[in-house]
Amino acid sequence: MSGERPSERWGDAVSDESRNQSSALLERAAGTRRRIGVGLIGFGWLGRAHSRSLRRIPTLFGEREFDVELVICADEVPARAQEAVDAFGYSHATGDWRAVMDDPAVDAVFIAAPNMLHVELVEAAAAAGKDVFCEKPVGGTPEQTLRAERAARRAGVISGVGHNFRWAPLVRHAASLIEQGRFGEITNYRGRFFSMYGSDPLGLLSWRFLVDEAGHGVTSDLLSHAVDMAHMLIGPITRVVGTTETFIRERPLPAPGEGTHYGRGREDDPRGAVTNEDYAGMLCEFANGARGTFEASRTMVGPESQMAFDVYGTEGALGWNFERMNELQLYLAGEGLESGYTRVLAGERFPYHGSFVPGSANGIGYEDLVTIEDYEFCRALAERRPFRPGFEEALRWVSVQAALLRSAESGQWEDVVSLRED
Ligand SMILES: NC(=O)c1ccc[n+]([C@@H]2O[C@H](COP(=O)([O-])OP(=O)(O)OC[C@H]3O[C@@H](n4cnc5c(N)ncnc54)[C@H](O)[C@@H]3O)[C@@H](O)[C@H]2O)c1
Repeated sequence: MSGERPSERWGDAVSDESRNQSSALLERAAGTRRRIGVGLIGFGWLGRAHSRSLRRIPTLFGEREFDVELVICADEVPARAQEAVDAFGYSHATGDWRAVMDDPAVDAVFIAAPNMLHVELVEAAAAAGKDVFCEKPVGGTPEQTLRAERAARRAGVISGVGHNFRWAPLVRHAASLIEQGRFGEITNYRGRFFSMYGSDPLGLLSWRFLVDEAGHGVTSDLLSHAVDMAHMLIGPITRVVGTTETFIRERPLPAPGEGTHYGRGREDDPRGAVTNEDYAGMLCEFANGARGTFEASRTMVGPESQMAFDVYGTEGALGWNFERMNELQLYLAGEGLESGYTRVLAGERFPYHGSFVPGSANGIGYEDLVTIEDYEFCRALAERRPFRPGFEEALRWVSVQAALLRSAESGQWEDVVSLRED
């Protein structure tokens, strides 16, 4: 394992105590809050999720050191950008993302456009001296991620990546238990992200299925989350052997400007070719000696959104599955629980949870993780410190992705060669 402590890989978690705010503290904070002007590009699923999240931060995190102003939203579909003004409170809408970079009131750019646009947008934001949060996978290819990381590093701007699953309260708890050594030596890891969004052959040929717009397929879209999680929990991966496949090779064409992620065509609609992978699987070795398996699929029928992991050590094990994100499966061999896993239910005693809902077993949801992520990113901006995961972590993931793609071609084990420039 690298010399880095696991908690350094997580970014900062807010302790429960810090939520016990007195009104005096709140008043003091209000006087010194840093203003963060936000420009957002791509007002689809995640653009809306980030916008809602940024808006509700004041209602959830009273002790924050910043105030967000939604300055400008860009989308190539004019009605979408206008909705950002009318319903979400942005001051301006534009069809040209360059207006975001040129706006002096924008301090941070949030990028939620299709993957192959990411690198150009990141480079433009960095050149304009703006901090930048980019949805995963930060570009559609490892080479683009490298360019994005280089641009942000050289410009000295703070970067962030949308690996929202990292921020689930029970995932933070799991990471803390691993760091405390509660499972002994970690020997095995299983990560997967099985989503059904592409399982319907009549699902539209949206940008995600096209190499020119998305770059790679599930390796970029889904496996990036699964491996980022393993990097956070266990550490670096050194060697992989893997395979990829495209199971549904043609899909109905969408009408321009319509149909994004979940649109459905008809049997007699014209079809186009799917040009990136539906499935990826790999076996790997971690630097700490653990062995791991990973799979990602968008076409399997059955699992709807299984972003999941299992960790096995010499003294215990745990498992988490986003489909049951408010539960953690825990097995601690030393505590007389040898007959099976214990189901731990989420609640306010775990990081962040109490900001959303008090008590125990009152669950939180997908978009709450985006809100925690945005809160932590803005906190890093206010304190002018790096945010994790940033583009450096994205580069770690694409170094693994590049090895996997080489292995899928060669049929051989491939070493993970760091793409990082020192
Ligand atoms: N972290 C997560 O859980 C998660 C989930 C979904 C998507 N994502 C990521 O978020 C990004 C967006 O995905 P999505 O599902 O929101 O896609 P989407 O198709 O719903 O939205 C993309 C938006 O970008 C707009 N757009 C396209 N080209 C543009 C341009 N040149 N200028 C301005 N706007 C443009 C589209 O009109 C659309 O509104 C992707 O990188 C994706 O990988 C992350």
